[in-house]
Amino acid sequence: MEKELKVNGLTFVPYITEDEISRQVKRVAGELRDSLTDPDPILLCVLNGAFMFAADLVRELGLNDAKINFVRYSSYSGTSSTGNVKEIIGLTEDIKDRDVVIIEDIVDTGLTAQHMIEDLTKKGPKSIRFATLLHKPESSKTGFVPDHIAFSIPPKFIIGYGLDLDGKVRNLKDIYVIKEED
Ligand code: IMP
Ligand code: MG
Repeated sequence: MEKELKVNGLTFVPYITEDEISRQVKRVAGELRDSLTDPDPILLCVLNGAFMFAADLVRELGLNDAKINFVRYSSYSGTSSTGNVKEIIGLTEDIKDRDVVIIEDIVDTGLTAQHMIEDLTKKGPKSIRFATLLHKPESSKTGFVPDHIAFSIPPKFIIGYGLDLDGKVRNLKDIYVIKEED
């Protein structure tokens, strides 16, 4: 692990190691498996940020009958007074009466998670569980609390293991946090 990392002129320092991520992903996989009632849930990996977490999580879950889908959001300015509306794209599976597991990289304000759950609920799933790699509880604007959380962290900007800065550094095996000014 590098001591310091410069990305777009910002300095980042090591925060969560690959080993620690691996331990917590295993824990979350076990808890998630225990909480599922059906052997064949639909797993929704939210692109782009969750791709690495999802890849590790689904291998630990070991549910061969689970179907894995990759979804994204499209945001657009709607004509409604609520303004910014988010729509899920890429969902090819019918989720009616099915157990759905959302796999996210990070819950910050909780607004994305809330939009997604509202949208999916309209499609009539039996249940929706929400698993996230990271949660910033102090940033919440919604009170939304994920069902499964690998790490709860303070409201600081982090990168790596799928999370990006301007599309970069998603490849990093470890997670880095932005360096505080001294
Ligand atoms: P929310 O809707 O505010 O909960 O957060 C939605 C999105 O903000 C996440 O899916 C990330 O793409 C992005 N985000 C929030 N915090 C961070 C961070 O610390 N690093 C990288 N992306 C972040
Ligand atoms: Mg995300």
